Amino acid sequence: MALLQLEAGQTVAILSDIRLELSRLGIELAHWPIERTPKIAPLLAAEILNETQKEELLCAFDERFEDQKRRYGYQARDLVVLHSSVPNLENLLKIFDKCHTHADDEVRYIIDGTGRFGFVAPDGKQMLLTVEAGEYIRVPANTEHWFVLDENRRIKAVRYFTNKDGWVANYTGTPARF
Ligand SMILES: [Fe+2]
Repeated sequence: MALLQLEAGQTVAILSDIRLELSRLGIELAHWPIERTPKIAPLLAAEILNETQKEELLCAFDERFEDQKRRYGYQARDLVVLHSSVPNLENLLKIFDKCHTHADDEVRYIIDGTGRFGFVAPDGKQMLLTVEAGEYIRVPANTEHWFVLDENRRIKAVRYFTNKDGWVANYTGTPARF
């Protein structure tokens, strides 16, 4: 289950309360249960996937995004696989772990593992959201945020983009306080 930490030391664990808190920033969070069919279960369990295996997993979840594609105009998708055995993991993580914005939405459907998104509200307050497999998040374009792995050091997330070539992080220099 998702967990939201606020700066006052408060923790929000009830999904409807988390959604309310995030909606103030325009962020959507939904629970999309994963059906671990015999076909995809081994792919979900794997630490590293090749491009063919990634595509197989992506196809298994394509239908879920039909509505989002129509509504938000997403044109491209990929699967990000992060695990302690992925070569160059620490350098990869450095792209996401500092406060940044971008002109595209940040759309993630976590299909394996866990991770943490930090958000900076327009008033400067920060919050940290832990997400796990079966959770979908849409962070609107230009929202200041960051992403880190947690102690599991493992996540697989489907990403959607309106323009994959245009995904460029603008680092804001805000220090993350979590
Ligand atoms: Fe981002």
